[in-house]
Amino acid sequence: MSPPKFADFSRIVFFTGAGLSSESGIPTYRGSGGIWKEYNYEDYACQRAFERDPEKVWDFHDKRRAAVAACEPNDGHRLIAVIQRAKPGTTIITQNIDGLHARAGGVDVIELHGSLWRVRCDRERTIRDDTSVPMASRKCTCGAYLRPDIVWFEDALSVDNLRRAERALERADLIVSIGTSGVVYPAADLPRIAVQAGAVSVEINLEDTPVSNLYQHRLRGKASDLLKSMA
Ligand code: APR
Repeated sequence: MSPPKFADFSRIVFFTGAGLSSESGIPTYRGSGGIWKEYNYEDYACQRAFERDPEKVWDFHDKRRAAVAACEPNDGHRLIAVIQRAKPGTTIITQNIDGLHARAGGVDVIELHGSLWRVRCDRERTIRDDTSVPMASRKCTCGAYLRPDIVWFEDALSVDNLRRAERALERADLIVSIGTSGVVYPAADLPRIAVQAGAVSVEINLEDTPVSNLYQHRLRGKASDLLKSMA
């Protein structure tokens, strides 16, 4: 069965994970050399860790900001942005916090797990963009520690993002999942909405995942190559 062609669809949803950005030099989380192989998320990426030792958590995120700032979007990010420009009914839903979809020209990207480039003060209930590397100030003007506007483990996803994602998935005629291991919920269950709504479904990954059975087309290989094969 040859892979579907983007030209034949008008309401495409791209659902992306760390595997897409790995070709830009950003490590994934669970693959070989994965971030969670080196760092225990309980010490660096949850609210408890932040309350226990905010400086340690910031050191980790500052390192990630510096690493991502040194990377560029790749052909996969760029092709997705080109398709979105050509087909305004295209939606980008990502678990990535690196901001590379937007840097490649993607618009209205639904960042399910937040962003490295936004910070918030939970005391003043404010959120703002911050692209300083390293962080200019880890503290808010009120004196409280700022925290990265990232959905850490045990955090809830934003209801607004979930609703936007669900609306796009319900209307999709093509769902393309790219470079995600499909083990983190509730995100991993979202593509099922498009499949149940009758969309043609494609999973792009180097290997099978626990959710591969959901997809009609399981394309194995590098994201940027396989995306080009559908253009
Ligand atoms: N092309 C296609 N797939 C790839 C590539 C590539 N070049 N490189 C790696 N992959 C695949 C791997 O086989 C793996 O299935 O990408 C997947 C990456 O999986 P994870 O590291 O688990 O990343 P992801 O699924 O995005 O993680 C989900 O977990 O840690 C949390 O919040 C974090 O958003 C993250 C979430």
